Amino acid sequence: MLVLAFPDYHSQSQRLAGKLGAEFDLVEQHRFPDGESLIRLPPVLPGHVILCRSLNQPNDKLVELLLFARTARELGAKRITLVAPYLCYMRQDVANRAGEAISQRIVGRLLAELFDDVITVDPHLHRISHLQQAIPLANALSLSAGHVIGEFLRKQLDQAILLGPDSESAQWVEGIASTIGFDYAVADKVRRGDREIEITLPKFDFFKKTVVIIDDMASTGRTMARTIGLLKEAGVGDVYAVVTHPLFCGDAEELIRYAGVKEIWSTDSIEHATSCIRLDSMLSSAVKAIL
Ligand code: R5P
Repeated sequence: MLVLAFPDYHSQSQRLAGKLGAEFDLVEQHRFPDGESLIRLPPVLPGHVILCRSLNQPNDKLVELLLFARTARELGAKRITLVAPYLCYMRQDVANRAGEAISQRIVGRLLAELFDDVITVDPHLHRISHLQQAIPLANALSLSAGHVIGEFLRKQLDQAILLGPDSESAQWVEGIASTIGFDYAVADKVRRGDREIEITLPKFDFFKKTVVIIDDMASTGRTMARTIGLLKEAGVGDVYAVVTHPLFCGDAEELIRYAGVKEIWSTDSIEHATSCIRLDSMLSSAVKAIL
């Protein structure tokens, strides 16, 4: 078994290889001036190859996955496992207007054609309940970072209210709260555009309380920043933010900090200055379970 990594996901992949006791190597990558990618794999591959790479900023990466998987097959890999802690294109699961591509289905099927197993963490599934509905593979596995996040929070805080900023976050917030015995609440969110959202806090006494907002991702940061702003208006004590997938596009982090967050804690699903919660043990257990 060999874990291969692209240079942009070197450290997380190497940690996964270490946990698995597997060989590790890097894919060589060259970006031509016109934007095309050249990739080079080790010329001799074992039967089982694992590619570990999160699919944030996905458009170039999807082409590289195609080049990778087809080449790995030609070089002798019989089984190719994709470990993508952050999985892209999972949010567009219907055509909201006639003619729109249903990206979740298209990208899901592409991954199922290229890989034998796909392992990811808390993919943003809205109208479907199982990852296999998007990626038609027996081994399309969706792990949850909830337990790891709960254990992390238990070490940081004696007590806090966990707050989900929208109904979709309820699943994570409820799970984490029940694991560590914290109170929780869930806000209501209406999204009007990429950067336009409205949040309504639940009826809850936040005055001088410590609150941890938990969400699966921060993209533009508007959800987090607005929730923090409303909590401040309600006289909250310290506010922390926990994010599974720290996409933090553009000014997202700045906005969240400006809103008054005390700390931002993220997993290392995507490498970021706030990535302090490691997923490698959970990922390696999942890989071992499918061997
Ligand atoms: C969507 O419902 C997700 O759970 C996140 O709340 C959302 O993607 C965050 O987006 P943004 O940071 O752009 O507000």
